[in-house]
Amino acid sequence: MRKKLGLFAVAGLITLASTPSMAQFAKAEDAVKYREAAMALMGSHFGRMAPVAKKEAPYDKDKIKENVAVLNVLAGLPWAAYGAGTEGGEAKAEIWSDASGFKQAQDQFTTALGKLTVAADAGDFDAFRVAFGAVGKSCKSCHDSYRKKK
Ligand code: HEC
Repeated sequence: MRKKLGLFAVAGLITLASTPSMAQFAKAEDAVKYREAAMALMGSHFGRMAPVAKKEAPYDKDKIKENVAVLNVLAGLPWAAYGAGTEGGEAKAEIWSDASGFKQAQDQFTTALGKLTVAADAGDFDAFRVAFGAVGKSCKSCHDSYRKKK
């Protein structure tokens, strides 16, 4: 019994220590599913702010802040799932042949999201709108270069 508990404790520690950057995928297909799921959630949390940015829905400062916080968590997830040998899904081959360009697109997105976070925290609607547009551009710019059109 004691031994068993010890093993569970070790397994628990390993689970806790596994950040996404250390994520291991048994099959390429698992990596594709993982990054597509993360992107789909990003799409959901980004998209639900669009009516506010378009002035079709009222600006609720706290809701926007909450959404941006979720987006910040999600934004760190997909990239570890583009390791060597995980080609597939809607990912273009350029992700692997032009790794530095892909990294640059991630960095642009991260920078834009940082500005959106500052604007959301400040509760400044005009700054939010501008920063929201810039994040949208950074999503699109990466998709134009690295995501296959359907
Ligand atoms: C650095 C590149 C990059 C950035 C930045 C990026 N994406 Fe993506 N996105 C991709 C790639 C590549 C795919 C194709 C998925 C795959 O790997 O098969 C994708 C796929 C998607 C999908 C489809 C997921 C599915 O269900 O298959 C959605 C939705 C999406 N992205 C939304 C977003 C949103 C919203 C943002 C910005 C807030 C964003 N992405 C930023 C590269 C990016």
